[in-house]
Amino acid sequence: MVTVKSEQEQEIMRENAHLLSEILRQITDAAREGVSTHELDMLGEKLIRAVGAEPAFKGYRGYPASVCTSLNDEVVHGIPSKRRVLKKGDVLSIDTGIRRRGYFADLATTMVIGDDASDRVKKLLHVAWEALDRGVAQAQSGNRVSDISHAIGSYVESQGYSVVKTFVGHGIGRAMHEDPQVPNYGPAGKGTKLRPGMVLAIEPMVKEDPAEVEVADDGWTARAPNGGLAVHVEEMVLITEHGPERLSRSR
Ligand code: MF3
Ligand code: CO
Repeated sequence: MVTVKSEQEQEIMRENAHLLSEILRQITDAAREGVSTHELDMLGEKLIRAVGAEPAFKGYRGYPASVCTSLNDEVVHGIPSKRRVLKKGDVLSIDTGIRRRGYFADLATTMVIGDDASDRVKKLLHVAWEALDRGVAQAQSGNRVSDISHAIGSYVESQGYSVVKTFVGHGIGRAMHEDPQVPNYGPAGKGTKLRPGMVLAIEPMVKEDPAEVEVADDGWTARAPNGGLAVHVEEMVLITEHGPERLSRSR
């Protein structure tokens, strides 16, 4: 079901998204060489509970952690582990969510461990952020949901990369995943007509490998089957009469 949020609901969701932006920032600050992804999960859960929220991911369809940590050729849903210790040059996607006052927030960013990102990583990351910006710019009242999809997918492909098709962005509110689905590909002009008060999680997943992702034996980790690098960024956007309002900041 597509839901339209009242002013009061919008205010709670704005607050939640701001809180989660700050939590994500603190997790990225802690993500350094020598730190395990399990430690990032512990930190995330502590920070989430400290603002009176619950981790949205923990227990979601059996997912075992509060944060998803996906490294290098892993695109999304990587499970934190004591054995995954961050190394210089690792490309780390951090995805986390909260539920607070009855509403969900969901955000992701991708970063490089250590200071000197290679040009290869910089270019991939630039394309992902630019794809997100182009998607957000289409989140206008009167547009259709696939105008967002098309803006993201056509740009990413024009840059020689590929988007994930198995996983999609989504409406968000009292449920973490509400309608409409927001794919990162497809023709413009299709699907739900966007209206003020709708909140969308827009999340380009961009990879070097043209092949579609495969899910690992752990049942969660989605990775590029032929290797290469993959990144994931996600923000929440409120559709307003005056254009898109970014509720969260993931960079
Ligand atoms: N952030 C993901 C999404 O947008 C949800 C993570 S799935 C979970 O759909 F199991 F890790 F929670
Ligand atoms: Co999401």
